[in-house]
Amino acid sequence: MILKEIIFLVVLVAAVNADYVSYKNYKVYKIVPKNENEVQILLDLRKQPQYYFWNDIVSLYSDVKIMVAPKNQEEFENYFKSINIPAEVVFNDVQKLIDDQVKRPVRRNVVYDWTYYLTLDEINAWLTRIVEEHSDVATLVNLGTSVEGRTIWGVKIDYKKEENPVIGMIEGGIHSREWISPATVTYIINEFLTSTDENVRFMAENIVWHIFPVVNPDGYYYTFNNNRMWRKNRGKDNFTPCANVADDISNGIDLNRNFGFVWMLTGASQNPCAETYAGPSEFSEPESRAISNYVLYIKNQGRMIYYFAFHSYSQMVLVPYSHLSGYDVINAPNYADMYEIAIRGMDKLKAKHNTDYQVGTSGDILYEVSGSSFDWVKGVAEIPIVYLFELRDVGEFGFLLPAERIIPNNEEIMAGLLEMERVTRNMGYYNIQNESEPATLPTTVEPSTTAAPGSGMKTVFSVFLIALCLFVTL
Ligand SMILES: *[C@@H]1O[C@H](CO)[C@@H](O)[C@H](O)[C@H]1NC(C)=O
Repeated sequence: MILKEIIFLVVLVAAVNADYVSYKNYKVYKIVPKNENEVQILLDLRKQPQYYFWNDIVSLYSDVKIMVAPKNQEEFENYFKSINIPAEVVFNDVQKLIDDQVKRPVRRNVVYDWTYYLTLDEINAWLTRIVEEHSDVATLVNLGTSVEGRTIWGVKIDYKKEENPVIGMIEGGIHSREWISPATVTYIINEFLTSTDENVRFMAENIVWHIFPVVNPDGYYYTFNNNRMWRKNRGKDNFTPCANVADDISNGIDLNRNFGFVWMLTGASQNPCAETYAGPSEFSEPESRAISNYVLYIKNQGRMIYYFAFHSYSQMVLVPYSHLSGYDVINAPNYADMYEIAIRGMDKLKAKHNTDYQVGTSGDILYEVSGSSFDWVKGVAEIPIVYLFELRDVGEFGFLLPAERIIPNNEEIMAGLLEMERVTRNMGYYNIQNESEPATLPTTVEPSTTAAPGSGMKTVFSVFLIALCLFVTL
């Protein structure tokens, strides 16, 4: 270990709050339910908050991973022995995975290279620097202020400074423990500003982008300094003692349940001790108000087409609306277009590193949810092309995705996004002349705003899974 790394670790430890939550010797068990009875046993077990399920979906023959604190391990193991279901230990010490995740390369490049995860201060410093280096096209923007008074920083990228531009917005880090999200969003910013690939250049230069890597800065800070598994913001007005879990869990609101569109309809909680606590009322939180106000503000500056929210994990592209499933999904305007754009994007994503992504509404492929940011953007702000990405992986490491996987994750996402932009443009949502192609007669194709089923619709209805759980990702 060289001096620089030792200094970093010392600083990190010194910065750590006295109530740092250690996951030392927490084990993760894998159980594969082999009949409906075993599925039911696991679903019942999930109601006990001392068992942290790493998976959102408990289904027949799927790997179900459960994290257990040292003090509960004996009881847990005895229980599964007594009912004759094998529970295999897949991780012996969760804290070791967390320590691995904050490790820095011994020799770090001067410029950030996505080989490790950045802290909040480092992300903000990186943003400031990249904006200074590209000050002709990029500006630092302030989205608003968090509960604890932190500024939510982002960047606006505008190459052409034209009237009535096509506009897109990207949100990262609304759930703080999903570290791959900010690491993806900073990568997209960097690609838009520095890539020499002609397709990236096209997407960067023809659309005005507003990009925010960490919209929940208090939570993200907390995951580095207090509790790696923190998901919500740090709003403490609803504190309440919690049975079977640490009381601190009630010091936060799930920002992705706090938005004012079918708020509290489904898949959200009014219990502050829940991970999916939606807050005392819709838009009770400054972070969710800041996002929604900003969307409405930039919407007036041109043709706002895109909104992408990045989460982890599950490898999915979720299409609005999250509370709908089955035939009801077509109640979202231009659902069929959004579905087809995502399917075609994910073909290109897969071509990069052979990673499979599923596409559908959360109600169809994950679980029903309401009050999320992207559903609000679709349902109230009426932006046409809106998605929530659940990035890598599918539960092997979950939120503790090793840093070596950041770059392949980012490369495949970039490939997917480029294709999605191309398909959206070809569907006629906007016209931008591709200078590498011979000029065609101007066409005025109206984007479909009604729910006209497209080619992708058949597969939609075949996927039908609903689950609720403690370790929610959306
Ligand atoms: C522009 O057209 C060229 C030639 O057809 C093609 O190779 C390229 O991918 C197109 N660019 C975009 C961004 O669609």
